[in-house]
Amino acid sequence: MIKAEALTISFNDKTILDDLDLTIPEGCITNILGESGTGKSVLMKIIDGLLIPDRGKVFVDGNDIFSLSKKKLNLVRRKIAMLFQGAALLDSLNVFQNVALPLVEHADLSQKEINEKVADILNLMELQNTEKLMPSELSGGMKKRIALARAIILQPKYIIYDEPTTGLDPIISAEIIKLIKDLQNRYQITTIVVSHDLNCIENLQGNIVMLHNKKIIFDGKYRKFIDTKNPYIMKFLGNKNGILSK
Ligand SMILES: Nc1ncnc2c1ncn2[C@@H]1O[C@H](COP(=O)(O)OP(=O)(O)OP(=O)(O)O)[C@@H](O)[C@H]1O
Ligand SMILES: [Mg+2]
Repeated sequence: MIKAEALTISFNDKTILDDLDLTIPEGCITNILGESGTGKSVLMKIIDGLLIPDRGKVFVDGNDIFSLSKKKLNLVRRKIAMLFQGAALLDSLNVFQNVALPLVEHADLSQKEINEKVADILNLMELQNTEKLMPSELSGGMKKRIALARAIILQPKYIIYDEPTTGLDPIISAEIIKLIKDLQNRYQITTIVVSHDLNCIENLQGNIVMLHNKKIIFDGKYRKFIDTKNPYIMKFLGNKNGILSK
């Protein structure tokens, strides 16, 4: 389980997150929601041990991650895959090299084993015969799927997607959302999806955590979220309120 306690972080005297507590339940999908600049990506980087908060703690499976040695922190971080906002592939490496990267860096495998694992995961993603392509030759949707293949190749317990559908057309977005759901179902990966795409959260129907004004203003089930009487959330949902399914 991932648990954050009393997280506070400021940049240049501007507080972004203030005394925030959060528990991510295991084996399901949690959506992190909030307007641009509310600190969603910052929160994810703290949970992944990439950013150190000014105050507060993060526990991953009971480990207080900011009190761990670098070596132990790396072991914990290996359980968490992060799909960063924006382009995530290394442009100078081909598809095979991009997907194999975590195996080469973190796993003690023979070349044959690496080849097999990469082929398996590319099959799963319906990306056969793309091994030799360079990122510049791929569509936006393919890039996302390759980045996803790389993120899950070490079979993480947790996966964080930061804005997985931003910048993609509706058809590709729907494919990515389906893939997120399939992966979660198949492997029971505890999944965190940062998004302000209401279509994405409606499709995922996970738990909703909403950030606003440095705090969490909602933490609960999707159904409760769309029925909320909180004026800010009602405004956020805006005219989509009637469209979102219950
Ligand atoms: N390393 C940093 N140094 C200084 N300021 C930062 C840093 N990282 C984030 N910020 C600031 O913290 C605030 C929150 O940023 P963050 O990227 O978490 O927002 P977000 O909710 O993910 O927004 P978006 O929906 O646009 O991705 C912003 O004002 C940003 O400028
Ligand atoms: Mg962000």
